[in-house]
Amino acid sequence: MRAFAEADAPALVSWVDGPATLVMWSGPSGFTWPLDRAQLARYSAKAGPGLRIWTFTDEENPAEPVAHASLAVDPQGRTARLGRVLVDPAQRGRGLGAALVRAVQRVAFDEVGVHRLGLGVFAHNGTAIALYERLGFVREGISREVVEVDGTWWSSIEMSMLDREWQDLGPDATTPSA
Ligand SMILES: CC(C)(COP(=O)(O)OP(=O)(O)OC[C@H]1O[C@@H](n2cnc3c(N)ncnc32)[C@H](O)[C@@H]1OP(=O)(O)O)[C@@H](O)C(=O)NCCC(=O)NCCS
Repeated sequence: MRAFAEADAPALVSWVDGPATLVMWSGPSGFTWPLDRAQLARYSAKAGPGLRIWTFTDEENPAEPVAHASLAVDPQGRTARLGRVLVDPAQRGRGLGAALVRAVQRVAFDEVGVHRLGLGVFAHNGTAIALYERLGFVREGISREVVEVDGTWWSSIEMSMLDREWQDLGPDATTPSA
């Protein structure tokens, strides 16, 4: 993983194939359809200690972006929020999403030292919910009908993981493989 660069914008734009995908990826606010390089330039300009924005690349082809994520950290470094998780549609279903979330968990819990890592996921996004649960996140509750997409109101589930739950996973889960 490395810092998101403007050169990664075309790949990201190509992965977001419609307004529904844009909302699924980025939530109810932040970006407008169609996503473009100017919006991504404004987004990447906000990166810093309080907002880490990453591009994930293929190990065999380090120049090729395959996924994206961000981590918003509060000023005291006690809590953080995982966001903007997106894997290249051509690369899904082979464990990249899981590797990405594990990498962000390591930064949040082992490097920043947060107590709580939270995230929001739409209630009908079963793949993402199953992924987060498999990696230790717990469902907290639902915010009903937060955004209307193509005439349907989408609800959002709040999930979180705490530092003690991360520690309980043990080194096999939390240490990167060589
Ligand atoms: C959600 C998302 C990030 C998952 O990424 P991914 O790379 O496909 O994730 P993984 O491969 O780790 O796991 C996803 C699925 O592949 C399966 N899988 C993982 N490794 C696999 C492998 N080696 N072989 C076959 N299947 C595998 C998982 O079991 C899981 O199955 P499911 O669809 O039945 O739940 C991706 O679908 C995405 O970008 N979606 C659009 C944006 C989005 O929804 N972001 C989340 C916002 S909160």
